[in-house]
Parts: sequence; C-alpha cells; structure tokens
Amino acid sequence: MVKLVVTDKDGREVAVDARGGLSIMENIRLLPRSGEAICGGMCACATCHVYVDAEWVPKLPRRSFEEQGMLQDHASFDPQRSRLSCQIVVRDTLDGLRLTVAPDES
Ligand code: FES
Repeated sequence: MVKLVVTDKDGREVAVDARGGLSIMENIRLLPRSGEAICGGMCACATCHVYVDAEWVPKLPRRSFEEQGMLQDHASFDPQRSRLSCQIVVRDTLDGLRLTVAPDES
C-alpha cells in the first residue's frame, strides 16, 4: 500500500492507503468531498481536479496535452500544482504524496 495524504474540499486531512496500479482518483473517490470524478477517469470532466503539494510536483509525470487542456481554463487552475487525479497512477515512489482537492467551480 502507498500512503496518500488528502485534504478534502472542507479542509479535512485524511490518510489513504492507496492501491498501486490504480489512479489517485480511483483511490480517493469514496472519500466525502474528494471530487465527483463524473467522467470516470476519461480526462473529460476535470471534476477530479487536485493540487499536488509543490515538493511532489517534480516527482510526477508531466501533464499530457489532454490533461493540460482540461485544466487550464478553470479559474482555480494553478500552473504548477494542478492535476487531474484520474491521470496519475499510484506507484510505490508516490508513498507520502500530499494533495488538496480543488474547490468547486462556481
Ligand atoms: S474523472 Fe473526469 S477528468 Fe478525471
């Protein structure tokens, strides 16, 4: 198991024992206030938007063209830290990863 530390939309910090090989979204979607993920991980909705803690950004694969396109027009987009949690696969190297669920777009 890989430990993720997730701050939800209400500011609550939750430790998650995540399964490798699944996306972050698949590992956190059952948490309340962790994002709706309405497209099911197809990189088509951005409701799984999260902010990765800055120290972890260099340890992740870069955003794909599609992921960048889904995120960049959102008011809450952070050029450094924004990611779609459905596009990051959990691996052992991500043990301890900290992330914050982005606010709802109004
Ligand atoms: S779940 Fe829809 S873009 Fe990630």
